[in-house]
Amino acid sequence: MKTKAIIYISYHHKNTIKLLESSFEKEEYDFYNLAKTKEDILLDKYEKIVFASGIYFGKMDKKILQFIDKNIAKLLTKKIYVVITAGWNPKYYARKTIKYFNKLSLNDIKIFSCLGHDSYGPLKLIGGINKKRPNEKDVFKLKEFILENKIWYNIRVKEVNMDRNKISEMILEGEEIIYTFKPYYKKVVYRTIISLLIAIVPFILFLLFPIVFKFPQEMMTIIIISTAVMVVMVTIPLLIPLFMHKNRFYAVTNKRLIIQKGFFGIDFAFLPIESVQYVSVSVSPLDRYLKKGTWTISFGAISTPVTSKSGATFAFGDIGNVYENYKIIKAFIDESKEKEIK
Ligand SMILES: Cc1cc2nc3c(=O)[nH]c(=O)nc-3n(C[C@H](O)[C@H](O)[C@H](O)COP(=O)(O)O)c2cc1C
Repeated sequence: MKTKAIIYISYHHKNTIKLLESSFEKEEYDFYNLAKTKEDILLDKYEKIVFASGIYFGKMDKKILQFIDKNIAKLLTKKIYVVITAGWNPKYYARKTIKYFNKLSLNDIKIFSCLGHDSYGPLKLIGGINKKRPNEKDVFKLKEFILENKIWYNIRVKEVNMDRNKISEMILEGEEIIYTFKPYYKKVVYRTIISLLIAIVPFILFLLFPIVFKFPQEMMTIIIISTAVMVVMVTIPLLIPLFMHKNRFYAVTNKRLIIQKGFFGIDFAFLPIESVQYVSVSVSPLDRYLKKGTWTISFGAISTPVTSKSGATFAFGDIGNVYENYKIIKAFIDESKEKEIK
């Protein structure tokens, strides 16, 4: 049973619903389009309710406001969130909307507002304003809002091929996977190429030496063969991460952080969430160069300390949207700890 509902109206350019659908997980919320829904919305089963609409003539849609008036007694016991899109000055409308809710004694309201494409009335003549809004940045900000206000954590940023992901088989009773990551393959490839180059260059320089000094043919052959053997011995270990990538996955569950890894077989490493004392984001020179936002999040616990010498022993390496993910994981860990203290 879903405990969260989104009650919305969005008709002008569907700005609001597009924003909602890109930011809120469909499986987690019951969506109600108040312009169409015929059924009675049974508010009792919901803990959290998001009201959303464009701003039309200075207010949220009439039907939304009427619905709130009609159901005020029930709404007073719920957590209420509001999302609005407007053609002009969304912050102004956000303040106005909050005042409206406060007058109804709905005091602890969290509101998100952003610009939306507006071509109402004369604006149509110029094709409208804010043509590309809401955009990706708005979606990102709304996801942050969802996270900061603890509406729901499970914001999957990108679906990846999960064929080899066996983490679900490791899940214990009462445990639930909240979030799964796959490290970024291109980064592993770049890192491998760079380390191969660094490893091979000294051998090439070493080979120049007998060539420049014209060593006898037999000696040259021995030097070339032994160098080739050494090159193979040095480079094979450097290729291992590339082959291990296919089995590498990370997961955050409501109880543990899990790393799946392995070359031929599959191994798992676990860290109980309540044992995590420290979470940090690290950026390597390669990360800086690639500017892909695919960095590493490290987790420090007594069993997996982060030291200046060996770095982190438990880390989600090369994952995307790192700041967003960092905040999600950090908030999740903090909340798990809060629950434990209570
Ligand atoms: C009838 C109508 C009235 C509007 N009135 C306002 C307004 O008073 N202030 C404003 O900033 N935007 C106004 N807008 C622009 C909408 O708030 C904006 O385009 C919003 O993103 C529409 O959301 P929707 O596409 O989800 O319906 C109006 C749009 C329409 C169609």
